[in-house]
Amino acid sequence: MLAAIGSAVGIGNIWRFSSVVGQNGGGAYLVPYLLAVLCFAVPLMVLEMSVGRHLRADVVSSFGRAGRSFRAFGWLISLILLLILSYYLVITGWTLAYLAFSLLGIDVAFSDFTSSLQPVAYFLISALATGVVVSSGVKRGIERLVSVLVPFAFLILLALALFCLSLPGAQTGMSFLFRPDYSMLLRPGLWSAAIGQAFFSLSVGMGILITYGAYLDDDADIPKSALIVTVSDLLAAILAGIAIFSLVFTFGLPPTAGAELAFITLPKAFELISYGPILGVAFFALLFSAALTSAVSMLEVNVAAVMGQTGMSRRKASFLLTMALIAIGLPSALSYSSIGLSFFGSRILDLLDGTVGTLGLPIAAFLVAMVFRWFMDEHLLYSQLGVLSSWMRPLPFLTKYAIPTVLMIITILSLMEH
Ligand code: PHE
Repeated sequence: MLAAIGSAVGIGNIWRFSSVVGQNGGGAYLVPYLLAVLCFAVPLMVLEMSVGRHLRADVVSSFGRAGRSFRAFGWLISLILLLILSYYLVITGWTLAYLAFSLLGIDVAFSDFTSSLQPVAYFLISALATGVVVSSGVKRGIERLVSVLVPFAFLILLALALFCLSLPGAQTGMSFLFRPDYSMLLRPGLWSAAIGQAFFSLSVGMGILITYGAYLDDDADIPKSALIVTVSDLLAAILAGIAIFSLVFTFGLPPTAGAELAFITLPKAFELISYGPILGVAFFALLFSAALTSAVSMLEVNVAAVMGQTGMSRRKASFLLTMALIAIGLPSALSYSSIGLSFFGSRILDLLDGTVGTLGLPIAAFLVAMVFRWFMDEHLLYSQLGVLSSWMRPLPFLTKYAIPTVLMIITILSLMEH
């Protein structure tokens, strides 16, 4: 369960959540987000965990159990994850670099940092660290890592949020974060952004929870585990939001800064505030820990799939996939440097996030819901969940009809936008 929380709580909660909230008018966004989490992400999470524990197999074999030709979908999802991971690790590298800068007490402008070759070095370190953890195994690598880093991340988050609540801008920040503006709810874009963020943030729909579910004890209560993961993820996002918006409003910085919030806006605040250097170290240590435990979960899906399909050892599969990851991620790592690798006028990292990161996710989640609800025995769900308690009753309908329909609409809408 800690590993699932580690996967869910990542850069998405701390950085992407705040920037999406900031750009969508603050509190208004929370309503569709909570609905998306409860109606779509949680049911799919329960389905994935059930499939994982029932089949106890990697994602490719799991799809294969529904029909041999479905194995291709398993590989497709692994590939989507590998591509997402390739640029996620570049951003993980940025957080590591900023952690190092804050520890050393040096002040490096984001544009100077990205135009140097340093991001490449930090990307390599992050990729190798992820590879080493996964190669050490589920118990000796992943479990050990998450049992330290997940509690650590929550402690820092709590301390940061409490400290920032004492700042003069905290009240304005809170009302920005929590005051709903119902007129925003009429914008369709808000809804698809909320659903996309819910899936991304909870790491749902990409086979991660199928893979982790395969390691789950027989007596674990799946709906309860899913709720704990969800509540932890929400809590992390809200605590981060409290800290970030209190800082932003205390220093009159723009809340809509988007992607630049963590690396440009916040370091400015840390310079101005008392205890700023310590806050900076805490914030970037938090971001890096959260990112690493998410990266590990994405690599584990691929390593488990390659091991399961080829019989390769964990060590060898981890090594080969980490090397592949470095090769795929290098263009993203270079895309912000002075070499400025770009394609059709947009930086490769942004291009990957805008395509695979945005479109790959609903497609993968659609495949998971379709294949496991339409082409597998209905008995699968019930054998894992037993008698459904009252809040779980809508789950069979949601996972079979509502979720695939909504995901199809989102995919078509975003394809039309491109
Ligand atoms: N959930 C992670 C986050 O919030 C990101 C992630 C996405 C992890 C997809 C795994 C798969 O940052």
